[in-house]
Amino acid sequence: LTSSNASAVRTSSAVSTRSESVDIDWETLGFGLVHTDYMYITKCSQGGSFSEGELVPFGYIEISPSAGVLNYGQGLFEGLKAYRKVDGSILLFRPEENAARMMMGAERMCMPSPSVSQFVEAVKATVLANERWIPPPGKGSLYIRPLLMGSGSVLGLAPAPEYTFLIYVSPVGNYFKEGLSPINLIVETAMHRASPGGTGSVKTIGNYAAVLKAQSAAKARGYSDVLYLDSVHKKYLEEVSSCNVFVVKGNNISTPAIKGTILPGITRKSIIDVARSQGFQVEEKAVTVDELLDADEVFCTGTAVVVSPVGSITYLGKSVSYGGSGVGLVSQQLYTALTRLQMGLSEDKMGWVIEI
Ligand code: COI
Repeated sequence: LTSSNASAVRTSSAVSTRSESVDIDWETLGFGLVHTDYMYITKCSQGGSFSEGELVPFGYIEISPSAGVLNYGQGLFEGLKAYRKVDGSILLFRPEENAARMMMGAERMCMPSPSVSQFVEAVKATVLANERWIPPPGKGSLYIRPLLMGSGSVLGLAPAPEYTFLIYVSPVGNYFKEGLSPINLIVETAMHRASPGGTGSVKTIGNYAAVLKAQSAAKARGYSDVLYLDSVHKKYLEEVSSCNVFVVKGNNISTPAIKGTILPGITRKSIIDVARSQGFQVEEKAVTVDELLDADEVFCTGTAVVVSPVGSITYLGKSVSYGGSGVGLVSQQLYTALTRLQMGLSEDKMGWVIEI
C-alpha cells in the first residue's frame, strides 16, 4: 500500500496486497457481489470523530441485534467506481463528491461522518488492497460501496451511541441485464419514493427498501425498473429506483430539478456538464409525464447504471417507444463522452479523474 493513505488507514500486519490473478470470467461479469480480499472499517462514538481505520479481510461484521441501523434504519451508503487504465494505472471518478454527499446525508440522519479526506483516503486504500479485482480496461470496473451506520445499541428511538464506517468493493459489469441495450421502464402511479421534507435527497438505506415492492412487481411484468412521480401533484418525474432520469427533445435535455425528494446523483451532475460542454441546452426543472412521453430520447444516469438508454416507457397501460430498437444518438454520445473520461481515454478538462 502507498504512503498516501497513512493518515486514514492503519495497515494491520494481516494486509498484504495479493497479486495472483483472480478466477473471474470478465466477459460475463454482471452487477452482483464478488467477494474480494479486504474491507476498510472504522468506528466512532456519537459526538466523536472516526478513528484511523483499518483494512481487514472481507467478511462478516458482528453487530448487536439492537443496533440503530437494524432497528431504526440509521444508515447511509455511497457508490463509486475505480477503473483500470490501459497503462495499468487506477482511476477514481470524483470521489470527493461522494464524500460530500455522505456528509450531507449524515447530517440529515443524525450521524457523524468521516471527513472528505478520510473518506477519499480510505477509498484509495481499499481499492489498492483489492487491486487484483479491478477488471481489465473495457471489461468493467471495481464498484466501491462505502457504508455509514448506527452500529451502537438503542432500544428507545434515538440516534445510536456508536457508528461504523465501512468500505467494501466488488468487480462489476453492466447493471441492467440488457447491458447497453435500451431498458423498459414503467411509471409507478400508486407508490411514491419520497415526499417533501423526507429523506429522498440523501442516500439512506430506507429509500432503497421502500422501492423494492414496486420494482419487484415491475420486474415480474418484464420491465427493467420503475420511474417514480412526485407525491404531491403526481405528474412530475422524480427518479428511477436506482438512478436519475433525463429527457431529450431536439437539442434540449431536461432532468428533474433537485428539490429535496431526488437523489443528487454525481453521474447526473457530471452528465449535465458534459452535455452543456457538447452544445446541448440542459435544464434542471419540473419535468412532466407529458414531456416524457413526447421526448425523442430518454436515458437514466447513475454510478451503477452509468448512462442507460430507455427503449420504452409504459404509463397507465400505454407504451411509448424511443429511438427505434437501438440506442438513441444523444444517449450514445453522452455515454461515450463520460465513460472515455472515466477510463482515462480522453483529456480530463474538468479535473474529475484521480489517479491512485
Ligand atoms: C449507484 O448507482 O451506485 C447506486 O447506489 C444505486 C444502487 C441501487 C446500485
